[in-house]
Amino acid sequence: MENVEKVCWFLDEAKTYYLATVEGDQPRVRPFGTALVYNGKLYIQTGKVKSVSKQLAANPKAEICAFKDGTWLRVSGELINDDDRNAKVAMLEKMPSLKSMYSADDDNTQILFFQNGVATFSSFGGAPETFCF
Ligand SMILES: Cc1cc2nc3c(=O)[nH]c(=O)nc-3n(C[C@H](O)[C@H](O)[C@H](O)COP(=O)(O)O)c2cc1C
Repeated sequence: MENVEKVCWFLDEAKTYYLATVEGDQPRVRPFGTALVYNGKLYIQTGKVKSVSKQLAANPKAEICAFKDGTWLRVSGELINDDDRNAKVAMLEKMPSLKSMYSADDDNTQILFFQNGVATFSSFGGAPETFCF
């Protein structure tokens, strides 16, 4: 499995992860669940109307954290907007529950991919493992 696929697999298994952004000097964090590998990149999905979207437009630095079965994952990098319609369709196909709120052609649906992603898997008693993707 490619590094980026390992990261996405863990996010899928954990089901919920927490996405941190920056607003001025204030960290902001909230639960997220969307994750997709498309063209070798790790994407998440949100709505342009949300504060999280506005924070990432002003400062793309982000970090996510997920926990499952004694292992936690942190991913840092920049979250970059992508207007690729095919990637939006792929996200909605992977996460069909989004379709009640979003479509590939509305003005709200936004997907973003990690640039300069650094992922660290950690657990108590084990050495952390770091991957770049
Ligand atoms: C389990 C769970 C998963 C969620 N996944 C997402 C997601 O993938 N994308 C999204 O935009 N909102 C998702 N949400 C909703 C956001 O957490 C919520 O809209 C949040 O307020 C957005 O942050 P903001 O208020 O700073 O914009 C999820 C909520 C929960 C409870």
